[in-house]
Amino acid sequence: MDNSIVRFRGKPVGTVAARDPEGPVAENYQDCFVRDFIVSAMVFLADGNFEIVRNFLTTVLELHSQRKADAGHNLVSGVMPASFRVIENGNGEEELYADFGDKAIGRVTPVDSMMWWMILLAEYVRVSGDQELLERQDVQEAICHILELILREGFEDFPTLLVPDGSFMIDRRMGVHGHPLEIQVLLYAALEVGRLMLKPNENNRPLTKLALERRQSLRTYIRIFYWLDLERLNEIHRFSTEEFGSGTLNMLNVYPESIPDWVVDWLPENAGYLVGNLGPGKMDFRFFARGNLLAIAFGLVYKEQANAILNLYEARWGDLMGEMPAKICYPAYEGVEWKLITGSDPKNVAWSYHNGGNWPVLLQSFVIAAARMGRHDMARRAIETAADRLVRDHWPEYYDGRAGRLIGRRANRNQTWTAAALIMACKSLEDPSLLSLLAPESWQPKKKVSNT
Ligand code: GLC
Repeated sequence: MDNSIVRFRGKPVGTVAARDPEGPVAENYQDCFVRDFIVSAMVFLADGNFEIVRNFLTTVLELHSQRKADAGHNLVSGVMPASFRVIENGNGEEELYADFGDKAIGRVTPVDSMMWWMILLAEYVRVSGDQELLERQDVQEAICHILELILREGFEDFPTLLVPDGSFMIDRRMGVHGHPLEIQVLLYAALEVGRLMLKPNENNRPLTKLALERRQSLRTYIRIFYWLDLERLNEIHRFSTEEFGSGTLNMLNVYPESIPDWVVDWLPENAGYLVGNLGPGKMDFRFFARGNLLAIAFGLVYKEQANAILNLYEARWGDLMGEMPAKICYPAYEGVEWKLITGSDPKNVAWSYHNGGNWPVLLQSFVIAAARMGRHDMARRAIETAADRLVRDHWPEYYDGRAGRLIGRRANRNQTWTAAALIMACKSLEDPSLLSLLAPESWQPKKKVSNT
């Protein structure tokens, strides 16, 4: 992790995605990615190394003005970059250069960056007590802009946020457009921390009220409509369809015929999970780890639901954890489905990369979720499965195969968030006070934000 630190004019401002000695697989792995740095930041915060986290937060904030409008577009403020790097200009001076997804392979604006930025800001202020940063005018303005953007009216009246494919950790075409779970879970946390961090004055009141209302309706909606257990599966199996008007049980007109065969035999009696995506006529039954685990960590789901998700991990350990925790999504798309949904993406073939690959970075969210629910045995088992192998294999980015037995074909070595996740997972088991990182009960700022 020390070797991964990016410096700008002498100051530490972030960590690179990977420092593979053989050179990174893709050119942009030399960048500091916003979502990747969150995992590093947890380690820095746990170690009391606040400087790099503060510098990162202010650097990303300044960079958001680098976004350029294409002809016919009127940019709104709030969007944060996917990644940034330090370059040397013609005069031998260092400059920062941001990518808003326009140069990334998927060419999609990262919707998660701005939400992660706010969540990290809240954590940083709480742990470091740096009230001065929170009260800075540019920081308060950024919080307002992000809240305005994520609360902006579109053409829908669901409480969820409509996004294009590949707008978060899965940043290439993978059939995760619409209302993917991970984005909705981040939206929930961002609305909550955002409203709590805004100064409680007359100007901000309408926005904080809206954020609170939306957060409440989003939580109810996710707890009910994204939830799938055997009881709910039975209901969906016998759903009436084509019902007109309001107050119908099958509100989104999901056809029972769309239930995939695998889910019926796979879902154990005492378990459940939040489905991957939900929209008109559409339920994506795939299990996505990060959305489910963060929903537990953020306290978005009921306690019974959190336990049922962990029961699913216990009963389906081989599928969801295998030999390298943890599977990004289950199951993989194969054959024609892979062709149509990924656009025949060779990096996303079945049981690899985003399409059912195993990602050690997920270890951190898993350990936090399991330990917060008192399932320390499972947290320990996950760490024990991963630890020796990660060291031996030099910290790969991801693993291939149904059980994650093979190092990812195009995975980088020395992937920073792989190492950071293992370090943080171990630390949080040793020191339970660290489990409060990312926890909703700690989102309330220690000191009230002054209202001037
Ligand atoms: C890949 C991942 C993305 C990550 C980036 C850098 O593009 O899909 O989530 O941020 O690599 O590690």
